[in-house]
Amino acid sequence: MAYNLLKGKKGIIFGALDENSIAWKTALRCHEEGAQLVLTNAPVALRMGEINKLATTVNAPVIGADVTSSDDLKKLFEESMKHFGGSIDFVLHSVGMSLNMRKGKSYTEIDYEWSKKTLDISAMSLHRVLRTAWDLDALTEGASVVALTYIAAQRVFPDYNEMADAKAMLESITRSFGYYYGVKKKVRVNTVSQSPTRTTAGSGVKGFDGFISYAEKMSPLGNASAEQCADYCVTLFSDLTKMVTMQNLFHDGGFSFTGVTEAVINQMEK
Ligand SMILES: NC(=O)c1ccc[n+]([C@@H]2O[C@H](COP(=O)([O-])OP(=O)(O)OC[C@H]3O[C@@H](n4cnc5c(N)ncnc54)[C@H](O)[C@@H]3O)[C@@H](O)[C@H]2O)c1
Repeated sequence: MAYNLLKGKKGIIFGALDENSIAWKTALRCHEEGAQLVLTNAPVALRMGEINKLATTVNAPVIGADVTSSDDLKKLFEESMKHFGGSIDFVLHSVGMSLNMRKGKSYTEIDYEWSKKTLDISAMSLHRVLRTAWDLDALTEGASVVALTYIAAQRVFPDYNEMADAKAMLESITRSFGYYYGVKKKVRVNTVSQSPTRTTAGSGVKGFDGFISYAEKMSPLGNASAEQCADYCVTLFSDLTKMVTMQNLFHDGGFSFTGVTEAVINQMEK
């Protein structure tokens, strides 16, 4: 059901790789709620071609940008403002990649060059996005920026590897830049900490199947789906959350504050 929550708003969505991506679902929901969009992803991801289907559905241009390149981001924001004929009201940062995870290195034997790349893509990129918007004065007063994160930033999930460090940094940048952008232009910056979700990035985590069913049993409401995450992002882009900023917001069916559940105890007693 649509509520016209984003009527007249203009947003950039990073990270729609395929129809499972959280960014893909969020783009669909934002479109349903009346927003105009620009879609972006790394040039290598665009070559897959999937994003063009989404672009047609939500009637949005696709502008390639590697989030580790300030030049690409500058071009993205300039072209987006040109397309919209004005400033940008919301941004979804839905980007993550762990090179050590991908290459099967465990946390105690990480390759530092790969780790630097992981931090650059998955965390420092949020700073780059905000800094680019800041330098170009690309965001509307009261605009909203949301980045996606995971609870491994606060608690240990061994196979999440160096992504845990990246997410801790992402959440810190959210607070720090959120402070400056709040003072300057009432821009809100928040992270949404999502349940494990079956996507390309999610499925890269070792033992993901066991892990997703454990999280399901450990959450009073069950795991939050990608569609529900998209709904939550819509509320954060809307005018209904104007005073929410610098927060890490758990969207996980209660997992983050649950010590144990009967379902898990029953499983242990078997
Ligand atoms: N899937 C989960 O279980 C889960 C849980 C919590 C948080 N998250 C976070 O949600 C976000 C989206 O991930 P997803 O699960 O939808 O998976 P996904 O694989 O669909 O999305 C990750 C995106 O990052 C993009 N990307 C990677 N390197 C890039 C670069 N250099 N420049 C630009 N884009 C780049 C990829 O092309 C892809 O579109 C990530 O930040 C992820 O860590 C995922």
